[in-house]
Amino acid sequence: MAMPSKPDPRPQEETVKYEVTDGVAWVYFNRPDKRNCMSPKLNRQMKIVLEELEFRDDVKVLVLTGEGSSWTAGMDLLEYFRMTEAEGLGAIRKSQRESYGWFERLRWYEKPTVAMINGWCFGGGYGPLFGCDIAIASEDAKFGLSEINWGILPGGGASKVAQELMPFRKAMYHAMMGENLTGKQAEEQGLVTECVPAEKLKERVQEICDALKKKDGHALRATKWTMRRMVDMTYDNGLDYQIRAQEALHSFGGKEARLEATSQFLDKKEFKPGLSTFDTSKVSKD
Ligand code: ACO
Repeated sequence: MAMPSKPDPRPQEETVKYEVTDGVAWVYFNRPDKRNCMSPKLNRQMKIVLEELEFRDDVKVLVLTGEGSSWTAGMDLLEYFRMTEAEGLGAIRKSQRESYGWFERLRWYEKPTVAMINGWCFGGGYGPLFGCDIAIASEDAKFGLSEINWGILPGGGASKVAQELMPFRKAMYHAMMGENLTGKQAEEQGLVTECVPAEKLKERVQEICDALKKKDGHALRATKWTMRRMVDMTYDNGLDYQIRAQEALHSFGGKEARLEATSQFLDKKEFKPGLSTFDTSKVSKD
């Protein structure tokens, strides 16, 4: 007879692991035995890890991936739902705030972020999927709004993510049918940026990180926020936001970076902006 699932006894610190290598923070959902589903402990730990890495000088890009066969199998039906609900409304709200809290931190992270989707990605996983700026999936990853298969609606941001990223007819089908998409279908329907064969996944993500590392970090931050803010702005408000954001960038080295970049192109003929990035190491730090 099948044994009922039990709560995961591992300490909170072990639910997320990370390593920083050559400017890239590789952060892992780390409950492979539980398909990396998100328990309150994991949600709490992820916020701690993200905040710990955000302003480290040796971190230029953050990658979010999963240990084992999953990216994340969504919210933990035992620890996040059943056990929390048994404790009442206060516990439910606390758990929701903890998970939505780190999704939000990720959406507005001060460094560029890449989701490296190595396997299952369900329901609640769409929050962090959307939180990452670029999403690269393995061709054999599987994406699902499985909520409908166990009698709930896609909450925790998941329905908003599907509606925002996918064509409406595809998003509606995805939410109502509870069928999984392959990495390839997820790419075609806009849920991820790109998919690659599993054996090329890390190499492709590394390539993207290496390219991002060469860009000016302040300009990248302003760019990603601008792209996200534009979603629900009118054209005129968007235009105005862009002017203010560009001017604000000048308080963080933006002016020096632009003068240097312009000179590398116009005077020194060292690079062409249409073909590559300027050499950020030459920006005056004074
Ligand atoms: N919540 C709680 N436990 C989970 C979850 C989850 N979301 N996903 C996997 N697990 C647990 C299983 O209960 C099992 O635990 P046990 O070893 O203590 O019995 C263990 O992880 C391994 O899972 P299996 O089902 O045995 O793994 P398998 O590889 O056969 O299947 C799959 C993987 C398809 C991901 C399956 O586990 C599954 O359907 N999980 C639920 C996915 C889902 O619908 N998530 C919720 C989305 S909705 C939301 O997030 C709000």
